Amino acid sequence: MLAVPEMDLQGLYIGSSPQRSPVPSPPASPRTQESCGIAPLTPSQSPKPEARGPQQAPFSVVVAIDFGTTSSGYAFSFASDPEAIHMMRKWEGGDPGVAHQKTPTCLLLTPEGAFHSFGYTARDYYHDLDPEEARDWLYFEKFKMKIHSTTDLTLKTQLEAVNGKKMPALEVFAHALRFFKEHALQELREQCPSLLEEDSVRWVLTVPAIWKQPAKQFMREAAYLAGLVSREDAEQLLIALEPEAASVYCRKLRLHQLVDLSSRAPGRGCLGERRSIDSSFRQAREQLRRSRHSRTFLVESGVGELWADMQAGDRYVVADCGGGTVDLTVHQLEQPHGTLKELYKASGGPCGAVGVDLAFEQLLGRIFGEDFITTFKRQRPAAWVDLTIAFEARKRTAGPHRTGAVNISLPFSFIDFYRKQGGHNVETALRKSSVNFVKWSSHGMLRMSCEAMNELFQPTVSGIIQHIEALLDRPEVQGVKLLFLVGGFAESAMLQHAVQAALGTRGLRVVVPHDVALTILKGAVLFGQAPGVVRVRRSPLTYGVGVLNRFVAGVHPPDKLLVRDGRRWCTDVFERFVAAEQSVALGEEVRRSYCPARPGQRRVLINLYCCAAEDARFITDPGVRKCGALSLELEPAEGGPDAAGAPPGRREIRAAMQFGDTEIKVTAIDVNTNRSVRAAIDFLSN
Ligand SMILES: Nc1ncnc2c1ncn2[C@@H]1O[C@H](COP(=O)(O)OP(=O)(O)OP(=O)(O)O)[C@@H](O)[C@H]1O
Ligand SMILES: [Mg+2]
Repeated sequence: MLAVPEMDLQGLYIGSSPQRSPVPSPPASPRTQESCGIAPLTPSQSPKPEARGPQQAPFSVVVAIDFGTTSSGYAFSFASDPEAIHMMRKWEGGDPGVAHQKTPTCLLLTPEGAFHSFGYTARDYYHDLDPEEARDWLYFEKFKMKIHSTTDLTLKTQLEAVNGKKMPALEVFAHALRFFKEHALQELREQCPSLLEEDSVRWVLTVPAIWKQPAKQFMREAAYLAGLVSREDAEQLLIALEPEAASVYCRKLRLHQLVDLSSRAPGRGCLGERRSIDSSFRQAREQLRRSRHSRTFLVESGVGELWADMQAGDRYVVADCGGGTVDLTVHQLEQPHGTLKELYKASGGPCGAVGVDLAFEQLLGRIFGEDFITTFKRQRPAAWVDLTIAFEARKRTAGPHRTGAVNISLPFSFIDFYRKQGGHNVETALRKSSVNFVKWSSHGMLRMSCEAMNELFQPTVSGIIQHIEALLDRPEVQGVKLLFLVGGFAESAMLQHAVQAALGTRGLRVVVPHDVALTILKGAVLFGQAPGVVRVRRSPLTYGVGVLNRFVAGVHPPDKLLVRDGRRWCTDVFERFVAAEQSVALGEEVRRSYCPARPGQRRVLINLYCCAAEDARFITDPGVRKCGALSLELEPAEGGPDAAGAPPGRREIRAAMQFGDTEIKVTAIDVNTNRSVRAAIDFLSN
């Protein structure tokens, strides 16, 4: 059974306003519905988008970190010229056929657990370690997915390194963020020696929009641990939602900065061969400045031009096709300020490009045995890295109209290990296996037919299309004519072709921005400079608390009747703060007043519940779950617990919650003293 209301209302009363606060009741005893103040969502005015604009912020530079499943990077811009985005470009290392604008999300820790390296450096160092020695080192890759897939995420959640050793995920993330912090600050110091006071940096961290509150809070906690910002300066860190950031960037694009897939000649594949909408303008109008390591992109302003020219209306879908997730958002561009309004809650799922890698791994498992692949990965980690690099390069050349087979070199170590473990050679294994579209080439390579390659992409690509179609079928999205395909996987000719084929027939124009893998990063910088640009969002879930209402026979179910002191109460009532899919403007507040039950009470803790349904009535309904806790830390009342002779229970704490931002936020004040009260919502300690 879920918490009964007394637990929910532990030592506190709920009141809607001080004026309406009735004579205090004894602790934990229920009050009338009226006095419980089941106030509706406070219809406070939405602030003007400029209210949180860059003018207010004392930040001279915004640094955005795009922390991806497969690759990560950062970019920055100065407040003095917010749209000139400086991009880290030259990561050390890099693989053939892979642009290294971002670096692989790989972390290497020494056997003692100390930071060694990140990115290409980590991957290559680990690769070159003596195999015996490598067993003691902690190597982590693709670890962001764990945060999405763990249902009971806490600060203690563990991550497993390649060698099987575990360590707290929070520390792993903090190591990575600390690396980015130091790298970015070093770069800033070099570019602008006069600049840096650390606290003049506003940090932006990107997360998938479909991430739940605990995952977002987890990233924030990791940032605190990494020293990116301090808990006291929480506002110095913004959590940006990946497709939203891409949208912030896309809304500024002009026609010549896009490739329209519908205008591509049939048979054309990867972006290298693409025809742009107006390629003659491209070179002339894109302004690039090069500095020593970084590239600077000037975002052209011209809000609305794209939409006017394309006659696509002012609403569009952005699909961020990354390594781990496909993340969708649908926005309406508002004039005259170019602000964005979310039309439907974020949707998508874990259908990222690593699904193709996984399919390749499963294929190897079918040929050589799953146990062998598991053992090989564990015991020959360097050779496994080699094999994944070889596959990555080939994966990027795959296209729907390719006819020839693809060769993937198998590392010698694989061939050797298989002979030792399996007792025969890989060629025999291939001959014996039921997989007949993979052969052994005389050059010592796996030779995959193009059908085999298509098959590896198929589940992931159709998963992405299904998510987009499900979104387009929503009534809120009817009539949308434009889809931006962004993220690294959007470069895939296979994905581009499939999306165009499936959605072009619906009259949708599918466009891919140039530099598509960097749209999130660039958008995240712009978002950090003006977070008010996304003016309205949709709540992904219904949130509320459990309260007691006066029992009404015939309305409330008999099993919810609670009789206390001769009064009849309905228990477990779900009091909704915000409904799933409800539009909430940035800055819009839900206000509730709470009166500590005991004089001298130092802490008020209120359980929060959430569900996907809009209309849950009770916290015990199916699908409703406890998801977090609102805590209010109370200073002792001035002049002692019963200050100014106020009767116990008269002390009113007014909490204001915001559901329209990228994270749920709360502030609170002590009404009597007008002082702010430390308030926080914790989604990680369930
Ligand atoms: N041309 C291509 N063909 C096929 N796949 C590609 C191509 N280019 C990039 N990818 C894939 O896209 C993924 C990287 O995309 P991106 O950098 O957007 O992901 P990420 O930010 O690491 O992941 P996420 O945003 O989901 O956390 C990799 O899995 C890579 O293999
Ligand atoms: Mg990404």
